[in-house]
Amino acid sequence: LFAPHRANAKGWDITHRPTQDAIDTGRNGFKTHQWRATPLPSSDPKNSNPTAQPVLNPANPDDTVGHITCATPKDATSAIARATPWAVPAQTRAALLRQIAHTFEDHAEEFFALLHREAGKTLLDAVGEVREAVDFLHFYAAEAEAQSPTPRGLWTCISPWNFPLAIFTGQIAAALAAGNAVLAKPADQTGLIAHRAVQLMHAAGVPHTALQLLPGGPDIGAALTSDARINGVAFTGSTATALKIRAAMADHCAPGTPLIAETGGLNAMIVDSTALPEHAVRDIVQSAFQSAGQRCSALRCLYVQEDIADTVTQMLKGAMDALHMGDPWHLSTDVGPVIDDAARVSIQSHIDTARAEGRLIHSLPAPATGTYVAPTVLRVNGIADIEREVFGPVLHIATYRAEDLDRIIDDINATGYGLTFGLHTRIDDRVQHIVDRIAAGNIYVNRNQIGAVVGSQPFGGEGLSGTGPKAGGPMYLPRFAHALDTPYRT
Ligand code: SER
Repeated sequence: LFAPHRANAKGWDITHRPTQDAIDTGRNGFKTHQWRATPLPSSDPKNSNPTAQPVLNPANPDDTVGHITCATPKDATSAIARATPWAVPAQTRAALLRQIAHTFEDHAEEFFALLHREAGKTLLDAVGEVREAVDFLHFYAAEAEAQSPTPRGLWTCISPWNFPLAIFTGQIAAALAAGNAVLAKPADQTGLIAHRAVQLMHAAGVPHTALQLLPGGPDIGAALTSDARINGVAFTGSTATALKIRAAMADHCAPGTPLIAETGGLNAMIVDSTALPEHAVRDIVQSAFQSAGQRCSALRCLYVQEDIADTVTQMLKGAMDALHMGDPWHLSTDVGPVIDDAARVSIQSHIDTARAEGRLIHSLPAPATGTYVAPTVLRVNGIADIEREVFGPVLHIATYRAEDLDRIIDDINATGYGLTFGLHTRIDDRVQHIVDRIAAGNIYVNRNQIGAVVGSQPFGGEGLSGTGPKAGGPMYLPRFAHALDTPYRT
């Protein structure tokens, strides 16, 4: 909830020269600028895909943000052959990663515009995302200096659209910090952001053979994970895709080739009768609806003790009514669009089914144009009623009685996921009781459950939610290096 003023209507300076194909009316700077993305290095004569796909703004389908030329499986094969580990001392790599961090800060306004127009991010989320990317660069630079890791060789980094700069950069920064060569495949929805980030990394001095960008879909992901020359894969995305990657690696890569997978979650929060409702509701709204619910950490299932359930529900409805949906470019916008129309249709069908079953507790009106889904609360008996991770602004609520606490802990663990968990209570013994029993990578007590901070809150899950090690923690970089050459650290 912000002061209702707008971003500078004149936009920001364009600090890089528009490409030949740019369409810039000069009215709004980045708001009308067009970006183009190609496989990098783009001079590759073997790039055999001549078709550039338009990228549309999720908030405004009339706004063409730019064009992406996807890589082909042939491009992937030649990129693997060309890749060469970054054979300079760890201190040199660290210095360059820090230089990239400063470059990203210098280009923050451009990234804000791209995050807004290509990924539908609000300005608050865009600021947090650039900050997280910069933090990853500094963090892995420091870890490289501390650990002097020995590279494994060639890593494939496959990143998601929901953190198209932060997670994209974090994976690459860790792999490069350890001295590896990287083949980066961004999500096909957010290739322009990835392209700009890699351009800046190359301009800072990362060799073109140490970092290659291959925008594209599942065919490129498959080509980059089923080749005997790959020495490791870092993947963030769905659990189903992680399982496919693991199978492909088992068939094609050497035994023991590491897969770091950060995947989905069916994240719960428990609010007991001693919780402060105002405090809990603020954290529920942030956890469930910030970023339009498109965080793997987001709250999906809230358990409220029945004694305070009516109070919490009434307050939650009031807090939701104060949310502002709209163009994420406006500072007054709390909830922007979801990533694309396929996501909108899928999330909306989940809501429509629940509505038809009489389980709708509250919803908001959504803008008619753009891929918006209204923040919505649905009633469930328990987490087992939620068939899948619904990756959008949808919160499910169940009530529980005090004597059922251990049963709902068992139900939460029985989903098989284990990413984030939230707890609101003012009883210290209960915190200990629950934290000892919940299987989740990141547990948050009396606060929201999104927005892990690089370095101080390493992020990652267990079970169906991922393999570990946690990103932004001390055990992450060693996985990109030869184990015998890295010191063991707790
Ligand atoms: N790291 C993000 C968070 O903590 C999710 O990817 O919200």
